[in-house]
Amino acid sequence: NIVTVVGARPQFIKATVVSAALAERAGIVERIVHTGQHYDANMSDVFFEELGIPRPSVHLDVRSGPHGAQTGQMLAGIEAVLLEQRPDAVLVYGDTNSTAAGALAASKLHIPVAHVEAGLRSFNRRMPEEQNRVITDHLADVLFAPTDLAVANLAHEGIVKGVHAVGDVMYDVALHFAGRARTSSVLLDRLGLIAGAYVLMTVHRAENTDEPARLRAIVDGATAVADTLTVVLPMHPRTVRTLADLGITMPPGVRVIEPVGYLDMVALEVGAEVIVTDSGGVQKEAFFHGVPCITLRDETEWVELVELGWNELVPPVDATAIARAVLSARGRRGRTAKPYGDGHAAVRIADVMEKLGS
Ligand code: UD1
Ligand code: UDP
Repeated sequence: NIVTVVGARPQFIKATVVSAALAERAGIVERIVHTGQHYDANMSDVFFEELGIPRPSVHLDVRSGPHGAQTGQMLAGIEAVLLEQRPDAVLVYGDTNSTAAGALAASKLHIPVAHVEAGLRSFNRRMPEEQNRVITDHLADVLFAPTDLAVANLAHEGIVKGVHAVGDVMYDVALHFAGRARTSSVLLDRLGLIAGAYVLMTVHRAENTDEPARLRAIVDGATAVADTLTVVLPMHPRTVRTLADLGITMPPGVRVIEPVGYLDMVALEVGAEVIVTDSGGVQKEAFFHGVPCITLRDETEWVELVELGWNELVPPVDATAIARAVLSARGRRGRTAKPYGDGHAAVRIADVMEKLGS
């Protein structure tokens, strides 16, 4: 009897393959609790509709708010569900406020916590995601690490018990849906985009959106790139809001679109000449689809991609440097490697979860 807590876009995507693997085990019943951290149709419903994730049995509808209030409401809501359901384990994903709330609620009730994507570190404790990761990993009983480095990071913090190196579920998802994305998405045609001749960009990290100087450098950098190449930017609602608050508008050369579903996103990624992002998931998807990536951050948790030459870190402080980096990444290839497992992370997770109850 497992309760899975999800709430944000990347968690719905990660849950696709894990929930499918759990559903194949006769001895496991999974119930999904949606915190409601993401609630716009194109940030939540679209993923349940197109990826076949089981519908949440509980929706807490917490929505947006300051960290303390948002996390606190989730904590109270999840606690009530856990008291009623008394599951054998609680499964959480990644590093959002929904992750930390799920882990804390379960841990206080002495319900084992299993964390998918354990052991990632940016070593930047100002990031809300880093805070959430550290809290969750130190409360977790079962830690599913995506990489060897994640295992080492956990060991460095004294966490060795319950650690399982399973690979990265995002790689499973990418393999599983790549074919469908290629055949089902008509987005490139609809947008009049030519495969291999545009830049795909996403921006949503608090460290970028909430720092006007960094956001301004990103907007100006995108504007400069758009002089040479079409830039397509499915814009996260956080970024929409902060740009509006600052009175900044993107120039017409940058094609700002609404957030898209996963299959359309994969189609955009596969067709891009370069991907520019501050997203964790999108950095890896660029690699999975063989597209060079510029990451607009000071550090990354996915250092393998920088070491392999697929990803370049460009702190967004200077628009000219951003544009130069993006344009010179065209045609770049990194080394061939498989740092994220073999595409069977979800099955390994199901194996461990199954044994947990026996
Ligand atoms: C959250 C995660 C981040 C993750 C990202 C994935 C935390 C602290 N951050 O960031 O790690 O990378 O999700 O996308 O958990 N909003 C809407 N509609 C929505 C959702 C959000 O309008 O459906 C707007 C609201 O103005 C909200 C803002 O986006 O205040 C930020 O949303 P929130 O969930 O707090 O953080 P994210 O930036 O989405
Ligand atoms: N994604 C999507 N539509 C979009 C933007 C992103 O489906 O418009 C997907 C993307 O392919 C990846 C995941 O969302 O699988 C990444 O989520 P996000 O960038 O919001 O969060 P992060 O990975 O940084 O936590």
